[in-house]
Amino acid sequence: MKLWGGRFSQPPSEVFERFSGSLAFDRRLLEADIRGSQAYARALAQVGIYTPEECQRVVEALERILEASRAPGFFDGATDEDVHTFVIRKLKEATGELAEKIHTGRSRNEQVSLDMRLWLRAEIDRDLELLALLMRALIGLARRYPNALIPGYTHLRRAQAVLWPHYLLAYFEMFWRDAERLQQARKRVNVCPLGSGALAGSAFAFDREAMARELGFEAISANSMDAAGDRDFVLDYLYAASMILLHLSRLAEDWIVYSTDEFGWLELSDSVTSGSSLMPQKKNPDALELIRGKTGRVWGALCSLFVTLKGLPTTYNRDLQEDKLPMFEAADELAACLEMARVVVETTELRPERARIALEESWVVATDLAEALARRGMPFHRAHQLVGKLVLESLRRGKKPSDWTPEELAAFSPEFTAECAILLHPDEGMRMRAVPGGTAPEAVRQALENAERRLESLLQSVASP
Ligand code: ARG
Repeated sequence: MKLWGGRFSQPPSEVFERFSGSLAFDRRLLEADIRGSQAYARALAQVGIYTPEECQRVVEALERILEASRAPGFFDGATDEDVHTFVIRKLKEATGELAEKIHTGRSRNEQVSLDMRLWLRAEIDRDLELLALLMRALIGLARRYPNALIPGYTHLRRAQAVLWPHYLLAYFEMFWRDAERLQQARKRVNVCPLGSGALAGSAFAFDREAMARELGFEAISANSMDAAGDRDFVLDYLYAASMILLHLSRLAEDWIVYSTDEFGWLELSDSVTSGSSLMPQKKNPDALELIRGKTGRVWGALCSLFVTLKGLPTTYNRDLQEDKLPMFEAADELAACLEMARVVVETTELRPERARIALEESWVVATDLAEALARRGMPFHRAHQLVGKLVLESLRRGKKPSDWTPEELAAFSPEFTAECAILLHPDEGMRMRAVPGGTAPEAVRQALENAERRLESLLQSVASP
């Protein structure tokens, strides 16, 4: 079926129909299209196009179409141009000529925007829940090893000792900002375009606010021309999704590295790794590698929609049909990655004793020593120099920090007092980093509690009613 044709004397070529049809992918908008059409039918009754009884029949017929759509093969053989046309054909099969009035004053231009907004709003709610569950898993993993110390890295070189929960909270903060970004995107998504017509606004006196309320929208769009061509809301979502994937990808990279034989202080579960078809000893971090790999696809979706929109004349152009595949693809990959990451976090184990070896055989305490000297009045540059010499001497003699006795240290330089000898143990310097946001136990305890409070409120806000 077509929603147009009167002014054409030739049918579309079969090639053009195949080329331009979108039902193969926009069928995912079916439920949104039906909800939107039900609201529209009620609005049409308000302005006298349908009688209340006709409206009721249309609304019920649409509900039955939705139910029928859950059966397999529902779309088999359909050749309609898009999901909007498909729904109207089905409505026609069910209600006859009543269906011919459903599109009164309505354009697919507003309809496609409406459907995408409804679809995306539900998707964002699902993402927020998946994100919150991942954050809960991170807190759980932090709580499993509350006192464990790991090397913190800069340039992927052992830098300073940090508490394991402090490291995980870094990711909690990234994901917290991501949740905020999703919520902001949701606000822009949650605007109702219905009543905008094709581009100029409807000539029927709809109560747009009432239509918006019925569909759960917070606001109505302010300008019909803007509404017809606006896909900012999809880009906002794709950006938020890209940022989440960026964070997931960095986490994945960390854990791939930390679980290598070379680092060896993180153990990925057998259940999220796979073996080699040739090399019997292998346990490969495929789940994390796929998260890292899929990141590129989500960024591709963001980039692809940006390019589609650039240079489009104001209001609707058919190019906009190309907005849906990137949206679906990004949403699917995002949800899959969030779920996978949660399972990895839930099943990963720290090997605190291996982390300690990594700490103790390196010079992560060097900064602690230099700062101790500076606290006693030595200019920091001199302290830095002196500790640097100590490190150099240790490397020459193959000594690690704990190999130095207090006497040997004092013999190396009288500036190194007994306090400095204590600081050769990585726990001591870590305890001194007690500023808010630092890694000292008390600061981390407070940060953990603060994170748990925020997570609790996020979990409550995403809980399905
Ligand atoms: N399938 C179209 C899309 O996704 C629906 C809108 C068609 N509008 C039009 N004027 N051709 O964008």
